[in-house]
Amino acid sequence: MRVPAFSALLTEAGREVLAEVDPTAAAKDPLVTASQLRENPKVAALDPDLPVSELVNAVMTQVSLRERGRAKFGENAERMFFTPNGLEQSTRRTVAEYRAERTARHLPGSVAVSGGGGRASAGDLCCGVGADLLALAGRGVSVEGVDADPLTVAVARANIEALGLSGHARVREGDVNEVTAGDYPLLFCDPARRGGRGRVFDPAAYSPPWDVATRLAERAEAACLKAAPGIPHEVLSPAASAEWISVDGELKETALWFGTLGFGAGGSSAARRATVLHERAGLLASEGPVAHLDEEPDLGPAPVAAARRYLYDPDPAVVRSHLVAEAAARVDGALLDERIAYFTSDRAERSPLWRVLEVLEFAPFSLKRLRAAVRARKAGTVTIKKRGSAVDTEKLRRDLRARGPESVTVVLTRIGERPFSLLCREVEAPRTA
Ligand SMILES: C[S@@+](CC[C@H](N)C(=O)[O-])C[C@H]1O[C@@H](n2cnc3c(N)ncnc32)[C@H](O)[C@@H]1O
Repeated sequence: MRVPAFSALLTEAGREVLAEVDPTAAAKDPLVTASQLRENPKVAALDPDLPVSELVNAVMTQVSLRERGRAKFGENAERMFFTPNGLEQSTRRTVAEYRAERTARHLPGSVAVSGGGGRASAGDLCCGVGADLLALAGRGVSVEGVDADPLTVAVARANIEALGLSGHARVREGDVNEVTAGDYPLLFCDPARRGGRGRVFDPAAYSPPWDVATRLAERAEAACLKAAPGIPHEVLSPAASAEWISVDGELKETALWFGTLGFGAGGSSAARRATVLHERAGLLASEGPVAHLDEEPDLGPAPVAAARRYLYDPDPAVVRSHLVAEAAARVDGALLDERIAYFTSDRAERSPLWRVLEVLEFAPFSLKRLRAAVRARKAGTVTIKKRGSAVDTEKLRRDLRARGPESVTVVLTRIGERPFSLLCREVEAPRTA
């Protein structure tokens, strides 16, 4: 999509054309919808200097991206604008709202929470289509977005207007490499992790590179950097508090907090946190259910023991933040193996931070034995989970030939070099944390 075709969609006539397309019909039979648009004189009139095919494409793209955007932005997607890359790289609304809410609670004194003209208090460097900027502006923080891509800038501007946030946010085209830390008292930066050949995993290949973003953040009064959840711990700034965030059990990102936004002892020193968000419980409507687990610097390594009555499977945010020992300590638990993130305890305590299973059998892995145990329990529904196991779970599922009305969970792991299996069932008990 080029900027002129996108601009044509923003006109009153363009918005009318967009509103007239039935997204379900367009998804079901795109060729028919595209041909109807080609015949529609209003489409050609959107910009007589552009080929009709380009305008039709722009409409079709926007309609389909809005549909896809619902998964990340809920009903706001119906009013928003996207580019394929911009949607792909954008922060989902649940996470953006969570971070913005936290940012607004810990703003440095110099940040204005009034919006309007003048100097923006916050810079959203690499603002993309604006997911983070919109969440901050929605909390009254005056934000300026910066992005190097002209089409992305146009899209972010359209989103600010579409969500009624023009009083709090604006966007300019620019290169983040030219921004200095003093330009904004509060910095947010979400470097691009996609290059010409798809996703980029090496932080040095982010745009701007991770060390450039980190230097900016370290010098700002307050800053937050977003990175991939798999970013190596070794490249994280020792000046930052690091938070791994998951949504509904899926790990989404690492957020690095600097200056007044840090949560370590004394306000800004290094600390780790796992944060578990749930969309299903409706976080967007309010602050909703958020569960945190914080690093305990004085806690030693977790004890190691054989399986007790309950097995705990921690959320990926807990695992990736290396806070399994902290999680185990909450239930007086012990690891099954010091290198594997399952822990065990005599008591069952439900929490968003983990799943708890009751252990029915714990034994060295043997297909024959496991099959007999599953059959003895008349279990036809078998959930298989594994950590540290090389067993092919789909093959195992076939080989178990499970039949019956009951459900069980089979957990595959290893202790030392030896493979083990645990036959478990879900614990039904009220959540406590
Ligand atoms: C991961 S996306 C940002 C997504 C955004 N936080 C959101 O949630 O919508 C990264 C953005 O950085 C922009 N970008 C990459 N390098 C840049 C640079 N040197 N200066 C400014 N923007 C840059 C890209 O155009 C892209 O839109």
